[in-house]
Amino acid sequence: MKIIIQGARVIDPANKVDGRFDLLIEGTKIKAMEKDISPTKDTHLINAQGKLVVPGLVDMHVHLREPGREDKETIATGCRAAVAGGVTSLACMPNTTPVNDNKSITNFIKRRAQEVNLANVYPIGAISRGSMGEELSEMAELHEEGVVAYSDDGKPVMNPLLMRRALEYAQLFHLPMISHCEDIHLSADGLVNEGLISTLTGLKGIPREAEEIMVSRDIILAKMTGGPIHIAHVSSAGSVSLIRQAKKEGAPITAEVTPHHFSLTEEMVLRFDTNTKVNPPLRTKRDVEALIEGLRDGTIDAIASDHAPHTLAEKEQEYNLAPFGIVGLETLLAVSLTNLYHTKKLDLDTLIAKLSYNPAQILKIPAGTLSIGAKADICIIDPEKKFVVIGSQFYSKGENTPFQGQELIGAPIMTLRAGKIVYPLDEAAGSFNNLSNSLR
Ligand code: DOR
Repeated sequence: MKIIIQGARVIDPANKVDGRFDLLIEGTKIKAMEKDISPTKDTHLINAQGKLVVPGLVDMHVHLREPGREDKETIATGCRAAVAGGVTSLACMPNTTPVNDNKSITNFIKRRAQEVNLANVYPIGAISRGSMGEELSEMAELHEEGVVAYSDDGKPVMNPLLMRRALEYAQLFHLPMISHCEDIHLSADGLVNEGLISTLTGLKGIPREAEEIMVSRDIILAKMTGGPIHIAHVSSAGSVSLIRQAKKEGAPITAEVTPHHFSLTEEMVLRFDTNTKVNPPLRTKRDVEALIEGLRDGTIDAIASDHAPHTLAEKEQEYNLAPFGIVGLETLLAVSLTNLYHTKKLDLDTLIAKLSYNPAQILKIPAGTLSIGAKADICIIDPEKKFVVIGSQFYSKGENTPFQGQELIGAPIMTLRAGKIVYPLDEAAGSFNNLSNSLR
């Protein structure tokens, strides 16, 4: 099977490509990228004039919930949501039930993902047994089974000795530690950012310092052990400064930010909409500006969704009872385009790098590039397409989005994985007839 994607603006940060090219896909791989590729009889043409063609996105922070909480999400629904959001590779967090702290769970996730066969799913193994922060997980066998990183996401590793040992041990396997930075003694039972809004609402606050103390500790441990540590969902201006300084000093640190943290502020909580309840919490305009500056100057390497689906019943409780979490796979790209590219805060090449090549590099996975010979994982984007976010229309089981009702600009309109169309799903199921019309 040969496919030519014609006439798009192709952006491939890994190879510093940004220009109008045709892309030839043969079988599962990218065969050529040239100004003008002539079709042969057996070639299927995709007319992508006016569109962007970028590497399939890489979301390094996703909660798929299976095994154990299939009422919130399954590997199948999560992967459908992924490809609908232009994501062809994702790393899934181990806070499933049971926790992914041993090879049988990792193996199960991999097998389910293979059966679903929509996106590349890379499991992340737990740092500690049951993510209880007491003893190390089966790190070696997790590595043998193919995890791409270790994390106790959702629960920070409070014991610095355990974190030190984990960092030292993980170096044998050349795998990064992904750290959910939160001092739980300081965040206590906080619900929202500590400040004016926590005072006004009476909801218990989580101070920025709960994050920043742990970012500082992890920077120190990364320097001590050689790391590497990847800081998940950075939310505060102070964390950005600490990471910037650490990187200047050569510490083996990388970092990610979520679209909700660089787009929304704590004032949203005033509506008591539990879809604004997330950990770490939404913070202030000053924090949002610092996060965007961090993206601009390279302090923050990646944009990740922290896709955290919950059921309607769970989110329809009082604010203090509802679980933390926001779904993000299907808004990751659109929120990024709307709030970073269309506002001219970040150029397109840098933005795409943070959504594809950079996270792939951090996880050392073969993704995030349109190099000749690479797997044809591709996202075709209409950068001007406007749509209104409606949670109930997501492919994800989770509808818990604070972007509900917002108009976004820019959307993935087609996703290919290993040379096969996986989104739109009807297109994927059907033939290639009239493909060229499908992008109009
Ligand atoms: O808001 C969050 N939800 N933050 C986390 O760290 C975990 C996640 C979840 O698993 O629901």
